[in-house]
Amino acid sequence: MTESAITDALGRQLHDLRVSVTDRCNFRCVYCMPKEVFGRGYQFLAKKELLTFEEIERLVQIFATLGVRKIRLTGGEPLVRSELENLIERIASIDLITDISLTTNAVLLSEKRARSLRDAGLKRVNISLDALDDETFKAINDVGVPVQKVLDGIDAAAGAGFDSVKVNMVVKRGMNESSIVPMARYFHGTGNILRFIEFMDVGNTNAWHDGAVVTAQEIVDQINAELPLEPIGANYQGEVAKRWKYNDGGGEIGVISSVSKPFCGDCSRTRLSAVGKLYTCLFAADGFDLMSIVRSGADNHEIEQKLRAIWKRRRDRYSEIRTVESVLLPKVEMSHIGG
Ligand code: GTP
Ligand code: 5AD
Ligand code: SF4
Ligand code: SF4
Repeated sequence: MTESAITDALGRQLHDLRVSVTDRCNFRCVYCMPKEVFGRGYQFLAKKELLTFEEIERLVQIFATLGVRKIRLTGGEPLVRSELENLIERIASIDLITDISLTTNAVLLSEKRARSLRDAGLKRVNISLDALDDETFKAINDVGVPVQKVLDGIDAAAGAGFDSVKVNMVVKRGMNESSIVPMARYFHGTGNILRFIEFMDVGNTNAWHDGAVVTAQEIVDQINAELPLEPIGANYQGEVAKRWKYNDGGGEIGVISSVSKPFCGDCSRTRLSAVGKLYTCLFAADGFDLMSIVRSGADNHEIEQKLRAIWKRRRDRYSEIRTVESVLLPKVEMSHIGG
């Protein structure tokens, strides 16, 4: 196999692969898996419909030859997929992969589990938490999980020695904007990096409208008024979050402004769904069916050529060209590609 990085039609290199390992989740966040859609009658994927760990490992190996260095495991909720450590070990053993991280709601992240994930080779963890008071948080997760459960998961991750533990807060107007400053205060000085995410029009079930977006600027202004901030540079090219540090040495925060200040210009990410479809944008309607190719007996060279062709013709820049019409177009659900 040739080992060379590739660029898409807009000159962007492929660098990150986000792998969704399940469409299931133990939460029903109102902005992601609303109960009216993802209720009792919802048909989740059967085990045999999912890529196996062997298949994911093989695809990651091929992606690595095309320039992928970072793998992020997502869901749904990735920790509900059994034996995730086994997949992490497989990916960690691929030489070219330098970073393996996980995005989780942390409900299943006990101290023991955090250590076993770390031992398997997981380097970083991002944990979702949208409020610090039970009333708001339970209204968001819609399954009655209290805040303390997630705070315990954050502590477990922090204690397990990961390279970084970040906390993701999606901010939606009317849902949790009053939690911005309390969240900033709580994580100030802890070493856990809090990131605020503008509510996005992912999928077609979360009733997105632009009035519900609290912009990154508003978020920074609110925090800056209480805890003064100054901007700092990115850790790496294409980093999704813009970084700010507290003037008093209390650490840093991030803001992810996909709506108010899109960052498609250096988007190096692609996404593999649990059923093996490849999406070149978070807002794509459909993906390329890699599972069928893998299961048809194609060899690595054939798969590599397919991937090269897909990336070469990629022109996605959804967030930069979002319109009132595009918001209504069919799009893959968040729970299928994990953000
Ligand atoms: P790091 O590697 O720690 O920087 O993680 P990350 O921010 O790339 O991943 P995470 O899963 O924590 O995602 C945080 C938020 O950024 C989620 O809401 C994602 O949906 C969003 N996000 C990540 N990548 C993209 C992207 O390419 N486009 C858009 N629009 N949003 C993205
Ligand atoms: N807009 C912004 N972020 C979202 N997430 C889920 N749905 C949305 C949305 N509509 C976040 C989750 C998690 C990350 C992967 O994406 O809270 O932190
Ligand atoms: Fe589950 Fe995360 Fe979606 Fe909430 S945002 S329903 S935790 S996948
Ligand atoms: Fe990349 Fe699509 Fe997000 Fe733009 S909207 S940054 S192209 S995933």
